[in-house]
Amino acid sequence: MSLIKLEEVSKLYGFGDATTLALDEVNLSIDKGEFIAVMGPSGCGKSTLLNILGLLDRPTNGTYKLQNRVVERLSQTRAAKLRRDTIGFIFQSYNMLPRQTVLENVAMPLVYKGVGVTKRLKMASSILERVGMHNREYFYPSQLSGGQIQCAAIARALVNEPSIIIADEPTGNLDTSGSRLVMELLSEIHMMGNTIIFVTHNPELTRYATRVVYMRDGRIIQDESTSLGEVAKTARRRMYSVSSKTIEDDLAGVSMLMKVMPHNDNQTEESKHKSKIRKSSKNKESFRS
Ligand SMILES: Nc1ncnc2c1ncn2[C@@H]1O[C@H](COP(=O)(O)OP(=O)(O)OP(=O)(O)O)[C@@H](O)[C@H]1O
Ligand SMILES: [Mg+2]
Repeated sequence: MSLIKLEEVSKLYGFGDATTLALDEVNLSIDKGEFIAVMGPSGCGKSTLLNILGLLDRPTNGTYKLQNRVVERLSQTRAAKLRRDTIGFIFQSYNMLPRQTVLENVAMPLVYKGVGVTKRLKMASSILERVGMHNREYFYPSQLSGGQIQCAAIARALVNEPSIIIADEPTGNLDTSGSRLVMELLSEIHMMGNTIIFVTHNPELTRYATRVVYMRDGRIIQDESTSLGEVAKTARRRMYSVSSKTIEDDLAGVSMLMKVMPHNDNQTEESKHKSKIRKSSKNKESFRS
């Protein structure tokens, strides 16, 4: 049973002559413990897909099953509760409140859950410790680096203990070291058994993923299983047109692989992805940024 299953999901924005088909009959199954990078040119529907997966938006057509529950059949209240308990969403632009400390920002989602102030701050503090931000609790967002703010945003997404983390270009505003900080943190969260889906335009970041989903014009055009520590083959070939690895690639790959790997007993799903790759390469669809 998949954790997430989209069946022929379409999303249409606007009406009359001014409509955009942002998602076009997308099928996608995601199992617990996958670490998925979503890639594709601007406007191809990546954020639309993530918003639907994260229960921030609903499909126009098709079915979304989350933990075997048909999302379209849930009332707004039930969908909001499912989102709060299951999903942590991280945005490109942090969305931190500037006049609140890091601790208060991280504790914010617990307000909506009715948790009292003392317990809330204690929980936020322990999560900040987990992401290595314990000594920044009383800082304001403006006093942190971009990478640190994003780590605080990740802590905020984790405070409800969701099992699925959805991140729309979490490193989009960050430099290399900030991106690394954030991706290493997401990796650790992945290793604890969580499912992570993130959007990136940077092929290098596919090193952290176990699977890469490539989109174009509202469709998934390729779905590739990939090894932790390596840049996904399609991302490398189609976006860089680079055929061989550099020494730096190898070193980065090795340092990544020194980490503990999550247990992956998902052989069947993996073979399924490989056969999908074969199918789509037969279609000879090309993917360019
Ligand atoms: N609220 C909206 N109303 C109307 N059209 C929208 C809306 N949101 C997105 N779109 C359109 O849907 C298409 C897909 O947008 P989406 O934001 O999902 O792309 P994206 O792949 O995330 O792009 P980027 O890489 O630039 O973030 C685009 O053509 C966009 O203009
Ligand atoms: Mg987007």
